[in-house]
Amino acid sequence: MEKLHPPAPRIPLSNASTAAFVILSMLLTAFVFLAVYPNEFQLQSLVAGGCEPRRLRSTNFLDPVALPAPDPQLRILIGVLTVPDSYQRRHLLRDAYFLQPNLTVNARIDIRFVLCGLTTEEQRVLVAIEILRHGDIMILDCEENMNEGKTYTYFSNLPGVFNGSTGGETAYDYVLKADDDTYIRLDALAKTLDGMPREDLYMGLFIPCKNITDRMGWMTGMAYALSWDLVEWIARSEIPRNHKTLPPHGEDVVLASWLRDASLGKNRFDMNPRMYDYYEEPTPCWSHDFIPDTIAVHKLKNDTKWAKTLDYFNLTVGLRPSNLYNIHQLKR
Ligand SMILES: *[C@@H]1O[C@H](CO)[C@@H](O)[C@H](O)[C@H]1NC(C)=O
Ligand SMILES: *[C@@H]1O[C@H](CO)[C@@H](O)[C@H](O)[C@H]1NC(C)=O
Ligand SMILES: *[C@@H]1O[C@H](CO)[C@@H](O)[C@H](O)[C@H]1NC(C)=O
Ligand SMILES: *[C@@H]1O[C@H](CO)[C@@H](O)[C@H](O)[C@H]1NC(C)=O
Ligand SMILES: *[C@@H]1O[C@H](CO)[C@@H](O)[C@H](O)[C@H]1NC(C)=O
Repeated sequence: MEKLHPPAPRIPLSNASTAAFVILSMLLTAFVFLAVYPNEFQLQSLVAGGCEPRRLRSTNFLDPVALPAPDPQLRILIGVLTVPDSYQRRHLLRDAYFLQPNLTVNARIDIRFVLCGLTTEEQRVLVAIEILRHGDIMILDCEENMNEGKTYTYFSNLPGVFNGSTGGETAYDYVLKADDDTYIRLDALAKTLDGMPREDLYMGLFIPCKNITDRMGWMTGMAYALSWDLVEWIARSEIPRNHKTLPPHGEDVVLASWLRDASLGKNRFDMNPRMYDYYEEPTPCWSHDFIPDTIAVHKLKNDTKWAKTLDYFNLTVGLRPSNLYNIHQLKR
């Protein structure tokens, strides 16, 4: 808990001007940092402890001396592609991932929120505060867009960002790209990936439904994993670089076309039915009721859907009774 939740600075309540001064200096520091050290800032945000599960969360690969004893046998990066102004969603996701049970495999999962460049003065302050508090933001050099190359920018930047941070070793075994309306069950993900090939891997929910042999298929954008060798390939190959987008196709369809053109991603795994959309209406194969063995639920577009999902997966079981609240009592 300590690393994720450093004690709040003690501000004497009796002295309002001191409080104002402290807050002002914090904002100023954030500002200066962003203005003067934009690159260092990105790097730091990537290596500082974010919302990794508690058991193995304190690795810091800038400082190998401080590495904790057991080396994780599996290292996973989840990049949640989102937009700067989605503060509330990031807040919910952090809480939800933090409260998940400990991993049962020797793995380390880093979750980073991936933004394109900030566009407003408010964002410079509010996102800086998130970085100072959580260290889990990655800011790419791009413009926020759904289908103009953010996927390419994300994957192709990773090898450079992590270069040299691990002493020649690759930083991650697998990288996921995920939506911010997707809830991933980290232990289910880690256990699943642990049994899979570490190279040439492309894993997710495959379309067309249940037909992994279809060469024209792709993994949907709810969340999918690539092995690190494919991430490096995306960074260096001309195929993705020359076809960052392919209108009118979505970016995730385009990514599948890169792999197809290069005959890569041969270790494909369709996680249907363990990855699915929140059930609202029948679809050919990608939405159904919750199942216990879920890896990811997608289309969590509002609080009702988040609440139902997190309730099903028992996220609130740890709540203790207290004189401070009675959570079972609803006011009409
Ligand atoms: C999870 O791991 C932390 C850190 O090792 C430990 O303190 C805690 O007791 C574990 N929780 C459970 C439910 O095993
Ligand atoms: C990583 O760093 C080395 C040495 O500085 C450099 O030669 C190599 O091109 C870099 N690789 C990437 C992917 O940036
Ligand atoms: C699966 O894909 C192949 C290749 O596109 C196609 O020939 C076959 O009909 C598909 N099978 C089903 C069940 O859709
Ligand atoms: C969320 O969406 C569902 C329908 O898609 C609706 O029934 C529900 O009331 C919505 N909840 C909120 C909080 O807007
Ligand atoms: C949630 O907890 C209940 C009661 O302990 C249990 O029966 C159920 O299997 C749990 N659900 C999941 C998804 O683990």
